[in-house]
Amino acid sequence: MCGIVGVVGNPQATEILTNGLEKLEYRGYDSAGIFVADADHDYLVKSQGRIKDLESKITPEVQGTIGIGHTRWATHGEPSEENAHPHTSQSGRFVLVHNGVIENYDDLKHEYLANDTFYGETDSEIAVHLIEYFANQGLDTKEAFRKALTKIRGSYAFGLIDKNDRDTIYVAKNKSPLLIGLGDGFNVICSDALAMLQQTNIFVELNDGEMVIVTKDNVAIENAAGDSIKREPYEAKIDASDMEKGTYPYYMLKEIDEQPATMRRIISEYTDETGAVAVDQALLDSLLASDRIYIVACGTSYNAGLASKQIIEELANIPVEVHLSSEFGYNMPLLSAKPFFIYLTQSGETADSRQVLVKTNELGHPALTVTNVAGSTLSREATYTMLLHAGPEIAVASTKAYTAQIAALTVLSKAVGDAKDNAAAKDFDLVKELGIAANAMDVMISEKELLKQLAHDYFAGAEHAFYIGRGTDYYVSLEVSLKLKEISYIHAEGFAAGELKHGTIALVEEGTPVIGIISDDVTAPHTRGNLREVESRGAHTMVIASEDLSKPDDQIVVPVVHHFLRPLAAVIPGQLLAYYATLERGLDVDKPRNLAKSVTVE
Ligand code: G6P
Repeated sequence: MCGIVGVVGNPQATEILTNGLEKLEYRGYDSAGIFVADADHDYLVKSQGRIKDLESKITPEVQGTIGIGHTRWATHGEPSEENAHPHTSQSGRFVLVHNGVIENYDDLKHEYLANDTFYGETDSEIAVHLIEYFANQGLDTKEAFRKALTKIRGSYAFGLIDKNDRDTIYVAKNKSPLLIGLGDGFNVICSDALAMLQQTNIFVELNDGEMVIVTKDNVAIENAAGDSIKREPYEAKIDASDMEKGTYPYYMLKEIDEQPATMRRIISEYTDETGAVAVDQALLDSLLASDRIYIVACGTSYNAGLASKQIIEELANIPVEVHLSSEFGYNMPLLSAKPFFIYLTQSGETADSRQVLVKTNELGHPALTVTNVAGSTLSREATYTMLLHAGPEIAVASTKAYTAQIAALTVLSKAVGDAKDNAAAKDFDLVKELGIAANAMDVMISEKELLKQLAHDYFAGAEHAFYIGRGTDYYVSLEVSLKLKEISYIHAEGFAAGELKHGTIALVEEGTPVIGIISDDVTAPHTRGNLREVESRGAHTMVIASEDLSKPDDQIVVPVVHHFLRPLAAVIPGQLLAYYATLERGLDVDKPRNLAKSVTVE
């Protein structure tokens, strides 16, 4: 969802910017650009396409000590060189990168900039023209920037350079993420700490409404009124090597493989040496006082919420509702007397989820953010945070965050259930069962050759595919069909197995792949019956069955795990089928078209 980088006071500016953009490419990859300057020269290079396309246009003389860069995920205006950032003001004096959406850009254009010429169609270009408009009224850069900010409505992270002052980057933030990194004799800005870990691991967080004046040896934060703010920097505890693909062809495959280790890390992070679950007491007390849990999330995180519903209800004995963030914020249901909100978000930055959190905070309800990113916006703004400890997830299609979220919610549910003395919780040996689930994941991961062959046999010429299941198997179907469609572009849907016949079965033709997920003994015969229904209409059926329920002809057999944890094992073959189906189509597994990993606009 657009990534921003900037550096001031370092002669390697070009390299720092392009390295940073490579690390931020997960945020958007339809066009990119950098502006680099020193006292005497400046260069603006932009390109449609990926960072590598931009790099191929950067000639050796493009060097400087200050610069800003941007990788774009188009919101206003098609992906093109004209619409790529950085954007320049009318005279060329100001250069700007922007992440976010300016809602009133059209009004601003008509009110202040009617005579200006614009090269592209972006809202961001309006912002940099507006800053120059106020500078032309006699304001200095800082005040012109501040004045423009008072006029702009919407979300933004801005990085601004005034060519008349080549020692300063002006920064402002509202709703979109932005950090300042403190280097040795230089400073950087970035949308995500991952972009600058090679330069520093010391960062300063910014709050909405703040403006920052960054020079090579100073970071001056001011609030909207212009008062100076003091903030201690923090150390980002991320290992830069976690960002590397190593020998893997794609991040997605690496991240699929990392899932068993992530399960084991979650066990060690959240249990003590006796195996007892260790969760923040205040968080536990708040959950114990609640009468209903509302899980709010998007995409894969939403699917992880669905897959965790039964676990929470049975272990913690609290009713759970799972909602899509983009719906919940504007169509809030009647809440229970003592609601507790759980925001599931890998990135901790998703705007749809954040807008709900802002509302529930205003209502005074307790909230927990379960996220992979320490210090992320939703983590900072919720009452409590639980970290996934999954390591950076780079591939756009989320895999290890899904299983880590389910594991984290299992930990939490076990803690609540133990505190309530619930029989189901007492009978559930978390360390043992999560360990068994991790081993089952390992077994599925070792079946890559089989899954590659099945992906070829079933999906090679497919235009449509259906995953079906009942109960939690249905929820897993939703997730694995999302994986398949988002990266292979095969139209795939997850269906409640019994519901398929009430309409959607009309789409089943000769050869349509229909994959049944079967891990529950009560519903297994019914799902098998539904598979026979579609088979008799020509479907090419596949079964992913738990070992205790499997039949000799089943294509994929999943080791038996505790019934709460079935999604952890059953999802792996679906992730790998999607991966191999995509490889076979020659598509970029990690960067599917039209998507971005972190969607910071509503
Ligand atoms: C985007 C990504 C999805 C992700 C969703 C929610 O749409 O492409 O993979 O599941 O955002 O992201 P979050 O960071 O909130 O879990």
